[in-house]
Amino acid sequence: MSLDVAAGFLVCPLCRGTLELDASSAHCPAGHSFDVARQGYLNLLGGPQPKNADTAPMLEARSRVLSGLYGEVVALVVRAASAVGAHVVVDAGAGTGQYVAAVLEALPDAIGIATDVSVAAARRAAGVHPRLASITADTWKGLPVADGAADVVLCVFAPRNPADFARVLAPAGHLVVVTPEPDHLRSLRAAYGLLDLDPDKDIRLEQSLAGVFELVSSDRLTRAVDATAEEVADVIAMGPNAFHSDPATSPEMLEIDVRCRTYRRL
Ligand SMILES: C[S@@+](CC[C@H](N)C(=O)[O-])C[C@H]1O[C@@H](n2cnc3c(N)ncnc32)[C@H](O)[C@@H]1O
Ligand SMILES: [Zn+2]
Repeated sequence: MSLDVAAGFLVCPLCRGTLELDASSAHCPAGHSFDVARQGYLNLLGGPQPKNADTAPMLEARSRVLSGLYGEVVALVVRAASAVGAHVVVDAGAGTGQYVAAVLEALPDAIGIATDVSVAAARRAAGVHPRLASITADTWKGLPVADGAADVVLCVFAPRNPADFARVLAPAGHLVVVTPEPDHLRSLRAAYGLLDLDPDKDIRLEQSLAGVFELVSSDRLTRAVDATAEEVADVIAMGPNAFHSDPATSPEMLEIDVRCRTYRRL
């Protein structure tokens, strides 16, 4: 079971005691106990998932996009994480787990811990790599990872909790953050009336990390890719704009415009 790879690195979300794992549960010295789901992920949510958690159809669409159109974005994250090297890689808001799985492929001695608030995400991530442990957990409440246990924290298009990312990172550990640039999917957003990106994102990112992390590198990936009608539908369906009924889509040229920043913990 791939959860085993995280033994010794996980802590109780209620008291931060070290979690002991067995085949069907995890428990801390204070007696808090959590279930391992049949699909192989550890459920540390302590309640129902939030109503807006990503759904199984969103995850399916995202999975296809990551193995197709977003291949170079995945490669960008792999380069950033393997440049700093790591034994323990945590992916916060991991979704399908494909980014951290690709990083683990490049780092044969590393293990990964994927966390996400979505049950559908945790199910997928549980089967995506033999050295990846999948856990449902809420980034805002703190990662269920021991202080200083991680060498790299990945946060790819997902919510950030800088103080907690710093807590789980080893001294001089690295945080890899991927965010969309203003032109990311611009014509798709215009054609289908999708939500605009937040123009102040960069400033807020810098402010939230100041004093806790220092920037080590920043790489922008800009591509125009031809997407089929099905790929366009997947890009819409994987995100917060997912429609209740599938829109009629046509082939489009998509702008991929993202930035990958690596920070060192101060
Ligand atoms: C845009 S998706 C990105 C997923 C993945 N990193 C990727 O790029 O394919 C955002 C992810 O963050 C997760 N998420 C949202 N709020 C969260 C929270 N408070 N704690 C943990 N994960 C959260 C969602 O369930 C979703 O899987
Ligand atoms: Zn506990």
